[in-house]
Amino acid sequence: MSDLNHTAVLGAGVIGASWTALFLASGRSVAVFDVSDSAEKQVRQYVENSWPVLTELGLAKNGNPDRVSFHKSASMAVDGAAFVQESVPERIGIKHELYASIEAAISGEAVVATSASGLTLSEMQVGWTDPSRFVLGHPFNPPHLIPLVEVMGNERTGDGVVETAERFYASVGKVTIRVNREVPGHVANRLQAAVWREAIHLVKTGVASVEDVDKAMWAGPGLRWAAMGPTMLFHLGAGEGGLAAFCERYTDSFNRWWDDLGVLHLEPQLAKQLVSGVVQATDDQSPAKLSEHRDALITAMLKATAPLRIN
Ligand SMILES: NC(=O)c1ccc[n+]([C@@H]2O[C@H](COP(=O)([O-])OP(=O)(O)OC[C@H]3O[C@@H](n4cnc5c(N)ncnc54)[C@H](O)[C@@H]3O)[C@@H](O)[C@H]2O)c1
Repeated sequence: MSDLNHTAVLGAGVIGASWTALFLASGRSVAVFDVSDSAEKQVRQYVENSWPVLTELGLAKNGNPDRVSFHKSASMAVDGAAFVQESVPERIGIKHELYASIEAAISGEAVVATSASGLTLSEMQVGWTDPSRFVLGHPFNPPHLIPLVEVMGNERTGDGVVETAERFYASVGKVTIRVNREVPGHVANRLQAAVWREAIHLVKTGVASVEDVDKAMWAGPGLRWAAMGPTMLFHLGAGEGGLAAFCERYTDSFNRWWDDLGVLHLEPQLAKQLVSGVVQATDDQSPAKLSEHRDALITAMLKATAPLRIN
C-alpha cells in the first residue's frame, strides 16, 4: 500500500471543503471534483479561512494549501489517488451514480470512504460491482476541527481495508471508532438524538426554557463529556468502588428517570417553540457570527487539551 500521499475529495460542499483543508494540512495533495461551477472558488476560500486554525492546532506542519487541483470528472479526480473521500449529497441515486462512474478508474489499492450520515453502508454498496475497497468514514461537522470519524466495513469489505482507513484518519489527526453493526445514524448521531429528544421534552413540558436546557448541557455534563465518555465518568462517580459501586448506588434513580423520559417526534408546532426559544437566546446574532464563536471555543478547547490527551 502506498503512503496515501495523494487523495481525492468528491463533492466539496460543507463537508468536502473541510476534508480538503484537513488533507492538505496533513501534507497530502488533494484532487477535487464537484459538479458546481463555484466549487473551486469556494474550496480555495475555505482552505484559506481554515488554514490559521489548522496551523494553531499544529495540524498544518507539513501542509501546503496550494497542493489542491480541480477536475472535470470524478474519474479524473480519483486517478492515482490512494484515499478517496466521497461527500456528495445524501441521496442514494447520486451516490450510486458516482460510484459507478469511478469504479473503473480507482487504483486497485485505493480506499474509498463515504461521509454519509444517514444512508447505510449496505445500501450504498449496491452502487458497486465490487465494494471491497469501500467503507464508511463518517465525520462530524466541521471535519477539520472535530476529531471523531466513525468507520465501518462489513462482510463485503476486503481484509485490512477498514484498518487502512483507520490508519489514514489517525495520520490526519482524527480519532476513530469502529461501528460493528449497521444501524440508522451510526453511533454518535444516535447519542445526539437521544439527548436532544429529552432536551425538547423538557422544553415542551415547561420544565425549563430552550436557553436554560442548552446551558444545563454546556455548563454541566457537556464539559465533562468533552473530557471522557459517560460510562467512564460514572466509573469515577462513586469513589474507590468504581462503576460497580456507582451502579449499586444509582440503579433505582436511573431506572426511575429512564421511565420518565419523553418519547416524541419533532412536529411543526414543537419546532416553532424551539425556534422562538433559540431566537430569544441568541440576542439577534446571526448563525454565521455564532458559528465563529462556536469554532473559536472548540479550537481553544482542542488546543488547551491536546497536551493532556492519553490517546
Ligand atoms: N453537513 C453535516 O453536518 C454532515 C456531517 C457529517 C456527514 N455529512 C454527510 O456528508 C455528505 C455531504 O454533505 P454536505 O453537508 O457537505 O452537503 P452539501 O450539499 O453542502 O455538499 C454536497 C456537494 O456535492 C456536490 N455534488 C452534488 N452532486 C455531485 C456529484 N454527482 N458529484 C460531485 N459533487 C456533487 C454539490 O455541488 C455540493 O457542493 C452527505 O452524505 C452528508 O450526510 C454531513
